[in-house]
Amino acid sequence: MFITLEGVDGSGKSTQAALLAEALGPDTVSIREPGGTAAAERIREILADPETPLDPLAEMLLFLAARSDLVASVIRPALESGRTVVSDRFTDSTVAYQGFVRRLGPDRVRELNAAATGDLVPDLTLLIEVDPEDALARATDGGRFEAEGLEFQRRVADAYREIAGRETDRIIVIDGHGTTEEVHDRIMAAISGRTGS
Ligand code: TYD
Repeated sequence: MFITLEGVDGSGKSTQAALLAEALGPDTVSIREPGGTAAAERIREILADPETPLDPLAEMLLFLAARSDLVASVIRPALESGRTVVSDRFTDSTVAYQGFVRRLGPDRVRELNAAATGDLVPDLTLLIEVDPEDALARATDGGRFEAEGLEFQRRVADAYREIAGRETDRIIVIDGHGTTEEVHDRIMAAISGRTGS
């Protein structure tokens, strides 16, 4: 089973991804994007650095290059050996940030995602929704996108809502307000509702 978590910067999804992986047991493979392989971590350094200017198309291709390597060398082998994989961000991040907000076009990004992942689609995606203003206040690592400000975060949040509305079977919207435990409980309830376990 392949589960991804999505949301704006500072939505708390990284904390929730870690708690979820722990709850699912020691056999769970936990990853975060971009990263997770030697090459993808090096690509992450470029993407994370607000001082390195990047054309939007080049930026997207770097995210996809990192993802392609991660899928081939970590995600697919883990899924093939029957393990559950939890990823902090995946293809929907690129559709939201590069497709909608950077205006490269969601359909074009979906196609390129399919090429980069060999058509791998998560079984379940949890979209953690919080007020973009609160999220921005919590996002403190000063990365390329956080420097873009509130208007940018709002556009990302709108993009995610649109993405979720198109794929209601795969994407569950989780209310990200409240304590860490409350949000975790909502996630666990959503997963058991979906998997029947
Ligand atoms: P990261 O520090 O991992 O942020 P977060 O903790 O919010 O996930 O940085 C990832 C940044 O890259 C984040 O701002 C979202 C952005 N991003 C994209 O624009 N496209 C993508 O395909 C991915 C995976 C991330």
